[in-house]
Amino acid sequence: MYLTELQLVNFRNYARLEERFTPGLTVLYGANAQGKTNFLEAVAFLATARSPHTHADRELIHFDAVADELPFAHLEGRVQRADGLHHVRVSVTLNGQQRSRTQKVVFLDGRRTPVLEYIGEVALVQFLPEDISLIASSPSKRRQYLDITICQIDRQYCYDLASYTQALRQRNAALRAVVEQGYDPEAAWAWDDPLVKHGSYLILRRQQMVAQLDEHITRIHAELTGEQERLRLHYLPCLELGHLAAHQLSLGWQPAAWGLAEAPLSFDDVEARFEEQLVKARSEELRRGMTLIGPHRDDLRFLVNGVDLTRFGSRGQQRTATLSLKLAEVALMTAKKQEAPILLLDDILSELDENRRAYLSRILRDQAQVFLTTTDPAQLSPQLRAEARLIRVESGRFLEE
Ligand SMILES: Nc1ncnc2c1ncn2[C@@H]1O[C@H](COP(=O)(O)OP(=O)(O)OP(=O)(O)O)[C@@H](O)[C@H]1O
Ligand SMILES: [Mg+2]
Repeated sequence: MYLTELQLVNFRNYARLEERFTPGLTVLYGANAQGKTNFLEAVAFLATARSPHTHADRELIHFDAVADELPFAHLEGRVQRADGLHHVRVSVTLNGQQRSRTQKVVFLDGRRTPVLEYIGEVALVQFLPEDISLIASSPSKRRQYLDITICQIDRQYCYDLASYTQALRQRNAALRAVVEQGYDPEAAWAWDDPLVKHGSYLILRRQQMVAQLDEHITRIHAELTGEQERLRLHYLPCLELGHLAAHQLSLGWQPAAWGLAEAPLSFDDVEARFEEQLVKARSEELRRGMTLIGPHRDDLRFLVNGVDLTRFGSRGQQRTATLSLKLAEVALMTAKKQEAPILLLDDILSELDENRRAYLSRILRDQAQVFLTTTDPAQLSPQLRAEARLIRVESGRFLEE
């Protein structure tokens, strides 16, 4: 899949941009603070209706436009997919009194589309400098990573995630009211049904997707490290799923290695366990005033040769494992969508040593479309540089080489 055209109006430091693109590699280079990352953010925003850098859409509107009568940012493009050319359009408008409200509208092929329905229409994988810390950072960042990845592949997951988040918020508020104001706990338990129903789907899909990512990541990481490291990715559910306990996973316990088959979980299995463990946790929940069981407390483990990278990995190991994760995500997405996603790589070459860069260069040549930013195009292999389209970015404008 690839972007053939992009138009921006008042997006970040791009007052106006109108460009055509081809498949293959496009390199955006230039000094700091010129708009390289902003451009990638624009592509991501158009593809997912969500910025990887901010939840406040108003920040996306060009500073100079904020004083206008009706400040807006507008993004529009055409995406070539296996099933044809599609027209996508997203705009953000500030309105209401004191311009306190932002309104985002998304159009797909001329039809107004709710954001949840739009996610996944344009497949995208991003590798950003902040991703480098994913393995070392908090479980919530790893959950967020999983959610964003799975949402692009499975729309039902997006719906269930939204409903779960809502049920969890209500249930937590009710539990707090019990603890702080002595309310009736029945108001909290009333949220158990939606919590279990939507949460069980999240757990099931996370487990399936992580198992698939794991297959890709093990292969990719072995290639990337010259067979030196065996990287495994494990889903660590908060819920005790019975078939594999969390502590066994964190110790790298592999049923297959013991000749045991890991029985696939069914939705009903997960629901039953969730319900049961939620009831068991009630007294503790009433003491602490929060929901203690559920996918909002899941995590992911990265194990290299059986060692947990989050706790014991060197910075370099964590960085390489992140690269493997991103490439595994590309492989997973390609398998699910039956075509390669658009790949955005923001300033990551400087994070990688020469071997990793060489490996990445080989992979990039097989991708449908890649946008890569760098302050120094000399970091690209001469071959890649010769094949790429190079664009210099200066103060929110493109200067062709
Ligand atoms: N809403 C906005 N309106 C106008 N300018 C903005 C807006 N948001 C950010 N900027 C400007 O965009 C610039 C940063 O652009 P960007 O992050 O794309 O830089 P970059 O080229 O990726 O630089 P680096 O090499 O440092 O990563 C900053 O100078 C910032 O002030
Ligand atoms: Mg940048």
